[in-house]
Amino acid sequence: MKTIIEPFRIKVVEPIRMTTREERQRKIAEAEYNPFRLKAEDVLIDLLTDSGTGAMSTHQWAGVMEGDESYAGARSFFRFEASVKSVFGHKHVIPTHQGRASERLLCAAVVKPGDVIPGNTHFDTTRANIEASHAEAVDLPIPEARDPENLHPFKGNMDLQKLEDLLNKEHHRVPFVLITATNNSGGGQPVSMANLREAKKVCDAFGVPLFLDAARFAENAYFIKLREPGYQDKTPREIAQEMFSYTDGALMSMKKDAFGNIGGVISLNSDAWAEKIRTLLILTEGFVTYGGLAGRDLEALAIGLEEVLEEDYLRYRIASTAYVGQHLDELGVPLLKPFGGHAIYLDGRRFCEHLPDEQLPGWALSVALYEHAGIRACEIGNVMFGKKLPDGSWQWPALDLVRLAIPRRVYTQSHMDYVVEAIGELYQQRQSIPGLEFVYRPDVLPHFSARFRLRS
Ligand code: F0G
Repeated sequence: MKTIIEPFRIKVVEPIRMTTREERQRKIAEAEYNPFRLKAEDVLIDLLTDSGTGAMSTHQWAGVMEGDESYAGARSFFRFEASVKSVFGHKHVIPTHQGRASERLLCAAVVKPGDVIPGNTHFDTTRANIEASHAEAVDLPIPEARDPENLHPFKGNMDLQKLEDLLNKEHHRVPFVLITATNNSGGGQPVSMANLREAKKVCDAFGVPLFLDAARFAENAYFIKLREPGYQDKTPREIAQEMFSYTDGALMSMKKDAFGNIGGVISLNSDAWAEKIRTLLILTEGFVTYGGLAGRDLEALAIGLEEVLEEDYLRYRIASTAYVGQHLDELGVPLLKPFGGHAIYLDGRRFCEHLPDEQLPGWALSVALYEHAGIRACEIGNVMFGKKLPDGSWQWPALDLVRLAIPRRVYTQSHMDYVVEAIGELYQQRQSIPGLEFVYRPDVLPHFSARFRLRS
């Protein structure tokens, strides 16, 4: 059989409130053209993020009832710790309330002003946390990652020559190297096992620890199985274990590949760093056995981490994301290729060729998509990464993308058919998509709260 079905059936449903185009035009104008400022109930299909938006399984909900809410030493913590250790394999497991709390704690514990943190491409909160520590976040993706048409199977890879050059010059300023798998900001692209293995060798040569941002480690493991010679007969769990074996530690937002609505973790081998992080954890997150989470969350995450490595799930997950990409590609819609694991990325600049960078083509496309069909997507481009230079001119990122992030186990194929049809229609009338300009742009993480007006 060619058809890959959703490996679950639906037991509880959440109604979607239908809206009209006129209503949506009004809502997005009221939100000053920022989809983050919309009410979720005014959205038909919410592809803003795959983070914390997944559906939990019957087993996870049963786990929620098993949650031990003791302040210290809860049974749920030990279950969580065992589940994380069985995949990640590091010595210390420290729960946090979400990925950026892990980033904040690690940075506060070990990053000094003037340090440099190289990565393949840091996610926006990671970059912001590094910069908030007065350190520099340096992205070293392979050159193929910058070409949206290049079909390199592991576009998430880090440029190891550039890493070596950087470490040669300033390894004393590098507390750790951080590889993000899959590379979210670079299009949900995987990192190969060979790249991780070699990165570890480079880091070891300079005595610098290698960390993994493991938010989507299971999707990455499945891409390795599909694309990297020698891994076809291995289970996703075995592949994931090998990935982590090349690392000294990992940060994870468990709102992605652990099917959590909330949760994160820091996993690492260094006793000294673990000690520092735990001290900070108590200050801002909570005691070391719950780290800002409830016992019920720890249970759900422990189970989610097992479920996400089931091969039937990963086959469906990667195939159903690619389904959206293939159908849009057939309609001629400009996309980032190959298709990512958790999301399809539209190429805002090529979709809205009539709009110059100053008119924020990707963001304008995300607004048009909401007006046209009630679909909420997230720009990862000019608004998120554009920089205003001291002379008043703008520096724009290499790609101006619009991400259609697909929540895990939430939408069916007909929802995705609707998305494909809507984007196809919009592409036919793309010339009519109006440009935008900033009314307000905060300096840090501008996309969350920026406000815009239509260009007259
Ligand atoms: N690292 C990566 C690779 C991420 O994608 C995210 C979040 C984080 C860290 C931070 O984790 O949200 O739990 O604090 N990404 C979400 C997204 C928000 O939509 O891609 P968090």
